[in-house]
Amino acid sequence: MILDSRALNSLDPPFAVVDLDAFDANLADLMRRANGVPLRLASKSLRVRELADQALCGGFRGMLCFTLPEALWLARSGASDLVVGYPTVDRAALRQLSEEGLQERITVMVDCAEQLDLIEPPARVCLDVDAGFRALGGRLRIGAKRSPVRTPQQAAALAREIVARGFVLDGLMAYEGQIAGVGDRPPGKPLLALAVRGMQALSARELATRRAAIVEAVREVAPLRFVNGGGTGSIERTAAEPAVTEVAAGSGLFGPTLFDAYRAFSPRPAALFALPVVRVPSAGVATVLGGGYPASGPAGRDRLPRPVAPPGLKLDRSEGAGEVQTPLHGAGALRVGDRVWFRHAKAGELSERFPEVHLIRRGEIVGTVPTYRGEGKTFL
Ligand SMILES: Cc1ncc(COP(=O)(O)O)c(C=O)c1O
Repeated sequence: MILDSRALNSLDPPFAVVDLDAFDANLADLMRRANGVPLRLASKSLRVRELADQALCGGFRGMLCFTLPEALWLARSGASDLVVGYPTVDRAALRQLSEEGLQERITVMVDCAEQLDLIEPPARVCLDVDAGFRALGGRLRIGAKRSPVRTPQQAAALAREIVARGFVLDGLMAYEGQIAGVGDRPPGKPLLALAVRGMQALSARELATRRAAIVEAVREVAPLRFVNGGGTGSIERTAAEPAVTEVAAGSGLFGPTLFDAYRAFSPRPAALFALPVVRVPSAGVATVLGGGYPASGPAGRDRLPRPVAPPGLKLDRSEGAGEVQTPLHGAGALRVGDRVWFRHAKAGELSERFPEVHLIRRGEIVGTVPTYRGEGKTFL
C-alpha cells in the first residue's frame, strides 16, 4: 500500500484508512476459499456501512449482525436477510421488531426457552448450537462458551419448543471459534502450533459428524432456510461440510494482525491508522499521540496494535500502547510531526476509535465514509 502519497500527507493524523485494493483482493480470496458456498457478512468485523455494502455487492449474502438494535437500524434503511448472531434480552428492541413489522427481515438467535419468553411470535429465530471441542471425557473444553445445546436430541427438543410456540425456525448456527478464530501458525511458538493443528483436526472431524446429525434431527421438526457455521479462519473446512449451507466471515476483509497466524490464507492488511509523532523523549525513541486500542479477548501482547511503517518500530514493554501517548523504540529517524502507521489486532474494533475512514486506491483518497461510531452508533 502506498502510505506516503501527497493525498495522504495532506491529512492530519490520527486518522484511519482502508486500502480498497487490499480489501477487494481479500474479498476475492474469501470467495475463492468458500468454493461456491455463500458467505454471510459478520458486520461486527467492519462496522462501516459503505464497506458492508461493497462486500454485499462483491458476493456476500446477508449479514450476521451483532446486536438487535443494529439489525433494526439496518433494516429500517432497507436491508434484509439480517441474522442477529447472539441472543438478545433487549425488550424495547424486541418490541420494535414486531411493532415495526421487521420480523420478515431479521432473525434472532436463541439457545434456550427463557430467551423465547421475551420474543413475540411469529418472529424468525435461529437455533445456536455449541460447536466447541471436548476431550478427556468432557474435562477439557475448547471453544466459545455459548450455547448449552450440543446434541441432536437437545437441538430437536428446542426446535419443537420453538415451533410449538408459534415461531418460525429459520436457521441453525454452530460457530467453531476454536478453528475459525485460532491461528494455526502462532509466530515463534512451534510447539503450540502443533498442538493447535492437532486439536483443530480432531475438532473438525468430530464437529462434521455431530453438525450433520443435529441438522438432520432439526430438519425433521422444521425446514431450515440456512445452516451457518465457521468464520474467516475456517472457511474451506466449514464450507466443505455438506450439512452447512453458508459460512459467516468478516475479519478477512480488513486483515488485522491476528489473522497473520494462519497457514491456509494470508489476508492483505487493508485497514490501517496513522498517528502523529508529537515528542522525542530521547535518542531512538519517538512518542505518538494516541494508540491505546487493544483488541478484545484474553489480554496479551498479541492484542496490541502493531506499528508497521516506518519499519523497525517497537512498542515499549512497560507502557505498551498508551491511552494518550505511545512511545516507540527504533525511532532514530523520526522527528516531531512525522507519522507512524499501525495495524489493529482485530477487525471491526478499529472502527469504534474513528468517526470515519478514508478509502484509498493506489495512494489516492477516493472517498471518506462514516464508521458506525461516526453515525452515532455504538452498539457494543
Ligand atoms: C457467530 C460468529 N460467526 C462467525 C464469526 C467469524 O467472524 P470473522 O470472520 O470476522 O472472524 C464470529 C466471530 O466472532 C462469530 O461470533
